Amino acid sequence: MPLSQRSTLTQFLIEERRRYPEASGDFNALILDVALACKAIARSVAFGELGGVTGNHLAPRAAGMATAPLASVNAQGKVQKKLDVISNEMFLRANEWGGHLAGMVSEEMAEPYAIPANFPRGKYLLVFDPLDGSSNIDVNVSMGSIFSVLRAPAEVASGHRKLTVDDFLQPGTEQVAAGYAIYGPTTMFMLTVGSGVHGFTLDPNLGEFKLTHPDVMVPTETQEFAINASNSRFWEPPVKRYVDECLAGKTGPRGKDFNMRWIASMVAEAHRILMRGGVFLYPRDTKDPSTPGRLRLLYEANPIGLIMEQAGGRASTGRGPVLQVQPQGLHQPIGLVFGSKMEVQRIEQYHDEPLPLKRADFETPLFTERSLFRS
Ligand code: F6P
Repeated sequence: MPLSQRSTLTQFLIEERRRYPEASGDFNALILDVALACKAIARSVAFGELGGVTGNHLAPRAAGMATAPLASVNAQGKVQKKLDVISNEMFLRANEWGGHLAGMVSEEMAEPYAIPANFPRGKYLLVFDPLDGSSNIDVNVSMGSIFSVLRAPAEVASGHRKLTVDDFLQPGTEQVAAGYAIYGPTTMFMLTVGSGVHGFTLDPNLGEFKLTHPDVMVPTETQEFAINASNSRFWEPPVKRYVDECLAGKTGPRGKDFNMRWIASMVAEAHRILMRGGVFLYPRDTKDPSTPGRLRLLYEANPIGLIMEQAGGRASTGRGPVLQVQPQGLHQPIGLVFGSKMEVQRIEQYHDEPLPLKRADFETPLFTERSLFRS
């Protein structure tokens, strides 16, 4: 299709809005501000070393400090890359002024960000991970930004009450919109406003996102899975069983060979799954007894979960729909499994079922060569 015939993101949003005559336009303006932040981040990512944006962000040097400053760490104890901090600033600056938001929460900030007093407040809350997969910056592999839009309580939007942490603790089913930008060979913006998932590719000549992937659907079946196998000794039995069966391929109970991928950038994995199917697991494990998983519910699991469900896939904690989990904290970690519906349902089923007896269970004296049960 000639480029000129494709809708821009702005056109797409205006056409969507026509279906809701009562809409004020705030929501569209908010999504365009988010998209602007993503375009700015895409430019910084593209300059890489030339822009001086690779490497760790250093903590400010304290007075009298003799040693070189160390890399800063965020609220989750993760080392911050320079681009984590830059991307967070870009999200804040692009979204604080427009009057659409009552507050923001980001992976990079321990507490909610209240809209500064010199700007009007609005009726939405924005939750985001400004640069997911940022450990990939220094190796030039795809990363992304993830965001989720929630409604602010009316009394907060009108300025009658201060913003609190609890205002953000809404289950994923309450999301008004969610999406991500992926910074790869091309920059793309994937969006759901509750009526399917639509993909836009950044036209670098115009600086505009153009609709290139309307109504994306995740294939229901797959032969591709993604998991960090170095954690296998910490997995729970249902996850071990699922992966073992995939690895057994044609010779196992699945009767078909599987392929495995691990990019260590959830946005990139989600994008591959949206484009050609697959399943992603960062399940609850026993690696660190203080945390049930690595990914964060509010700004990673929920937005990607809504995208998957809107594209006909499924997102789960392994035990049930992730979107139904009532958040307990801003940075709450959670086990996450998403992708092709039938695979995710199979993993949920394995969590429900008692474990099947394994070969080793039969290798007890009762089943050996000279046992009673020798055939
Ligand atoms: O938390 C963010 C993240 O970088 C995800 O994008 C990715 O899936 C995961 O962490 C990678 O974790 P690991 O380093 O354990 O493979």
